[in-house]
Amino acid sequence: MSELKNDRYLRALLGESVDVTPVWMMRQAGRYLPEYKATRAQAGDFMSLCRNTELACEVTLQPLRRFPLDAAILFSDILTIPDAMGLGLYFAQGEGPKFERPLRSAKQVRDLGIPDPELELSYVTDAVRMIRRELKGEVPLIGFSGSPWTLATYMVEGGATKSFSEIKKMGFSDAPTLHLLLDKLADSVISYLNAQVEAGAQSLMIFDTWGGVLSPHDYQDFSLQYMQKIVSGLKREYDGRKIPVTLFTKNGGQWLEKIAATGCDALGVDWTTDIGEARRRVGDKVALQGNMDPSMLYASPAAIKAEVQRILASYGHGNGHVFNLGHGIHPDVDPEHAGVFINAVHEFSGQYHV
Ligand code: CP3
Repeated sequence: MSELKNDRYLRALLGESVDVTPVWMMRQAGRYLPEYKATRAQAGDFMSLCRNTELACEVTLQPLRRFPLDAAILFSDILTIPDAMGLGLYFAQGEGPKFERPLRSAKQVRDLGIPDPELELSYVTDAVRMIRRELKGEVPLIGFSGSPWTLATYMVEGGATKSFSEIKKMGFSDAPTLHLLLDKLADSVISYLNAQVEAGAQSLMIFDTWGGVLSPHDYQDFSLQYMQKIVSGLKREYDGRKIPVTLFTKNGGQWLEKIAATGCDALGVDWTTDIGEARRRVGDKVALQGNMDPSMLYASPAAIKAEVQRILASYGHGNGHVFNLGHGIHPDVDPEHAGVFINAVHEFSGQYHV
């Protein structure tokens, strides 16, 4: 494998020294970019875009042509695994993801198989291989998956939810069934992420978007336990390189020490936790990724720059910081403001790395 021209992102995740703080944005390929909307229109629906290797590669690279980002993230979705398990994923106009066959019974859960990533999900590994080739060693490629708990919420609810009543109904009235589902998902995520690494992913991130809707006890039981299983089952070194793993529980600020104890390399931190305080709590055990409120990109360029400086100062001197938004970029953000954000991270962070 060729040497990377820019390896700041990987170095920061591993706690190594960098010249400036690396930056990328969750959902950096997406609807805020007119070129994404044009490619998406060409593909038809969202899943057709994910399944089209050339177009998935194209939209992965689009934000990198505009901005000096320090990492690329595979263009795909966390819901590819449930789709491969046969639930029938579709995107209803303006309603987000939905499943034709949501899971409601113990029998449905027992009947679920573990997808073979090189068969049912070969469109993902094909995209990883093509993106690596097209990146030409400029920046590293991030592979990703959802956490078992977050995937299960969509699978049991049948789509987005505000109350989480179906998944909690399963968890609190028939815990063995939910645990069986979470365990199957953990096994599926392990083989899926390892396949992404074999195809060329240089770092892995697990999105636990909904862990924060659980009580501390249930978070441990239904979410963290299974992310722990995944961390233990992943290829952490491949082809002579370390593969850093980042765990991100949205609204998980109160559990950072517990998440760090899984043995992952980095924690995603949303904006509801101060990043300097997060650093004091986890020490140098893990790197931190975050954490500007994505809505700050609605503010003026001057305000965006001031917020970047505030977060850099809060993290302070030294290694182990990957700058990011605290969650995905909003579709109605002006791309120029995203550019201001990314440039500000590079412009103002050098002083913290001398
Ligand atoms: O970050 C990136 O640029 C890589 C691609 C990526 C997408 N989804 C593309 C996408 C990643 C990493 C995801 C993860 C994802 N998908 C998560 C976890 C991260 C998070 O945001 O909390 C979740 C919960 C999903 C499930 C999902 N897929 C949702 C809630 C939606 C949005 C629905 C909507 O209409 O806003 C999707 C669709 C989706 N995934 C889009 C993109 C670019 C928008 C699809 C479109 O073009 O209409």
